[in-house]
Amino acid sequence: MREGQAPVIRREDYTAPAFWIDTVDLTFDLDPAKTRVLNRMKLRRNPDVATQALRLDGEELNLARVLVNGQGTSFKLDGGHLVLENLPDGHEPFELEIFTTCCPAKNSKLMGLYVSNDSFFTQCEAEGFRRITYFLDRPDVMASYSVTLRADKARYPVLLSNGNLVDQGALDDGRHFAKWVDPHRKPSYLFALVAGQLVAREQRITSRAGKEHLLQVFVRPGDLDKTEHAMNSLMHSVAWDEARFGLSLDLERFMIVATSDFNMGAMENKGLNIFNTKYVLANAATATDTDYANIESVVGHEYFHNWTGNRVTCRDWFQLSLKEGLTVFRDQEFSQDLAGEPSARAVKRIEDVRVLRTAQFPEDAGPMAHPVRPDQYIEINNFYTVTVYEKGAEVVRMMQTLVGREGFTKGMSLYFERHDGHAVTCDDFAQAIADANPGSALAVLLPQFKRWYSQAGTPRLQASGHYDAAARTYTLTLAQSCPPTPGQPHKEPFVIPMGLGLLAPDGRELPLQLATEAAPVPGHRTFVVTQASETLTFQNIDAEPVPSILRGFSAPVILDGGYTDAQLLTLLAHDSDPFNRWEAGQRLALNRAIKYIAEDNQGTRTLALDEAFIEAMRGVLRHPTLDAAFKELVLTLPAETYIAEQLDVVDPQRIHAVREAMREQLAHALADDWQWAYETHRDTGGYQPDPVSSGRRALAGLALTQLCLVARQSGDTVWPGKAYQRFKDAGNMTDRFNALSALVSSGHSLAAQALPRFHALFKDEALVLDKWFALQAGAPDRGGNVLPAVRQLMAHPDFNLRNPNRARSVIFSYCNANPGAFHRTDAAGYVFWSERVIELDALNPQVAARLARALDRWKKLAEPYRHAAREAIARVAAKTDLSNDVREVVTRALA
Ligand code: ARG
Ligand code: ZN
Repeated sequence: MREGQAPVIRREDYTAPAFWIDTVDLTFDLDPAKTRVLNRMKLRRNPDVATQALRLDGEELNLARVLVNGQGTSFKLDGGHLVLENLPDGHEPFELEIFTTCCPAKNSKLMGLYVSNDSFFTQCEAEGFRRITYFLDRPDVMASYSVTLRADKARYPVLLSNGNLVDQGALDDGRHFAKWVDPHRKPSYLFALVAGQLVAREQRITSRAGKEHLLQVFVRPGDLDKTEHAMNSLMHSVAWDEARFGLSLDLERFMIVATSDFNMGAMENKGLNIFNTKYVLANAATATDTDYANIESVVGHEYFHNWTGNRVTCRDWFQLSLKEGLTVFRDQEFSQDLAGEPSARAVKRIEDVRVLRTAQFPEDAGPMAHPVRPDQYIEINNFYTVTVYEKGAEVVRMMQTLVGREGFTKGMSLYFERHDGHAVTCDDFAQAIADANPGSALAVLLPQFKRWYSQAGTPRLQASGHYDAAARTYTLTLAQSCPPTPGQPHKEPFVIPMGLGLLAPDGRELPLQLATEAAPVPGHRTFVVTQASETLTFQNIDAEPVPSILRGFSAPVILDGGYTDAQLLTLLAHDSDPFNRWEAGQRLALNRAIKYIAEDNQGTRTLALDEAFIEAMRGVLRHPTLDAAFKELVLTLPAETYIAEQLDVVDPQRIHAVREAMREQLAHALADDWQWAYETHRDTGGYQPDPVSSGRRALAGLALTQLCLVARQSGDTVWPGKAYQRFKDAGNMTDRFNALSALVSSGHSLAAQALPRFHALFKDEALVLDKWFALQAGAPDRGGNVLPAVRQLMAHPDFNLRNPNRARSVIFSYCNANPGAFHRTDAAGYVFWSERVIELDALNPQVAARLARALDRWKKLAEPYRHAAREAIARVAAKTDLSNDVREVVTRALA
């Protein structure tokens, strides 16, 4: 354990390590209660750093022996560090041998070496390797690893580590061993081992470059029939990285192993990726379309890290977005390229932006706001955030926009030419992309562009148009600003790439010709906004146009477009940019929600959606050529959390009531259309997770939910009956689960029959049970019924607080994803939250700290919520034995 008050780590304090570690030879005697680790390293002093003691990181280790060049030596243990002062002078390499033990069975933090289902797994990023052995546990120390694993053969038949298997055999007493050598140098956070009863799906492939590789997906026996999609995704990933970036697999063997106990999604350990089962296991009967899509993107993400992260890694953890933002960008592009059709690509883009705006924008506006490249942290695990990942990906995307797709590929090549095998910074990346594209907007504006790395907060872009009929010009004035964030009261202007189109009143796309241009420039245009305020003047405009601003969501900003309803209806009907077409529908809905929320009348009965809005939604739903997936996105109202972000004072109950009322009105007003949509989209043939059929299922699912909602008011039993029938007969989990959630979300009594039936059907499928728990904890609140249900779910024999997926399925689904039920006037939701944060913190600080963030936005809450939320946070903060993880979150929340 680290002792004393946790220090603040600052980016500006970075110094190179005093020692380099060249080789590491590890021998493990694996035993759940007491695993022995022999660590033999070759080290040498870093000639660039003045002579210092060697301070090795360590956590929860029992130290048995330390030898330097084979001799005993004096050492100190200082707050978890192993300090060696009497090391040989000079720059000659020396040998250090450290023998320690640890207890994987008691490791509930799931960092370092731990046991799950009687198998061993490791998680070392960011600072877990120090829980395995004493080490310079920092990403800029890269070493060559060889690893020998020894364990009971019957209990742990499969022994895996990074790189190549070079030897294996039997030992005495029914034990066996395997020796692995990783041909690539790596930082300690990429170390991994796995041991247990596992089986593998295998695939041999030949790369474009003509090399042979073995791909393996390891799972528990019984799960092999759920590995086909992960393997296909892996093969697609290998081919894509070669085709798009010329990056080939640099290993003979690439392994993925699934574990059901995992703090995050997955981990890119060199050659031995370890995954949460949620992002590996899928078959038609157990996984939904969303699961299939997530598996594809997470498999891609971890595979792409093999270059962006592993071959070139981070100098320090402040540079986390160097690998994460870039790799999220790469996995987003991968999924778009696999989706193929422009309309399917657009759907993926809309989904990605929706995540950014519902999760990252609130983070950027709250107490945990931080730049994409943070300046300080107490616990690095708290900075694996949507800002570092998703906003970081948007920053990379803007670079690609500014240099073009080919220019970006050139930039990537230069990046690897310069930095392959090294630990570098975000500056190095941006510099490489700019240098490969001299004269590009990025190269010209690089210092200003890099404010995206250094300034936190979501910029606002305010647009106002002026049409001059006499001059036939249209002037668009753009003003940008960015609100203060913790530690950053004042912001400088950003470089904002702005995709733009102008639509004639009849929806026709107008040619764009700036006042300074001799002729219109054809095709899609992006303008680069750099000033606090600037104007663009277009000529030869015959009638007042409707501007389509920020097409494709070309920058992660909030656009204040000042749009009228009429303009939005034009965009929704005609915009050739699918993103802005969807956005127009969202804005129409949002404007209405905000108006109803503000109305004095606290009830929602008089709330009446206007014909124009309903007709526009009907037009999309019945549209002859739009994709079903796109229709489903347009007809889904903005999320409660997204609506909340638009308001200065948030009454979560009121938001929930208004959104529900709007949903019900859309259900009623479009009842015939929903019926038509359901009947025409419900059958998608044999299950295929492709974008077209999953889009059809999504639209049919939404239609069924809406039809059950109608029935809820009318008392009609036909549609709930159909939903129940669908629930029973469905040939795949997507349709089955959609039918079940239609019953649950409409509160129909048939839900009470369907839920136990679902449980009985899937009692042995952990990931399906997670869905079952999550559905109930996330159900719409009816008179405060959800919290008691959640407490009951926690008492269910299948509930297990130690399993992060299960804990999330109940507790996070309620506290983070069900605002209408969580924010209660009696504060009982907050009491529940504070109990769970404290309870989880004793087991798993990382998971607890995520939960702790559920009340990040408490300052925006209306009374009585605000006061009660503050009290709940203060109650957590008053605990004296909190982890650094939770301490940092609650301290910032109260600041
Ligand atoms: N690098 C992993 C990824 O692919 C995430 C690992 C984060 N783990 C942690 N304990 N913070 O995004
Ligand atoms: Zn990653």
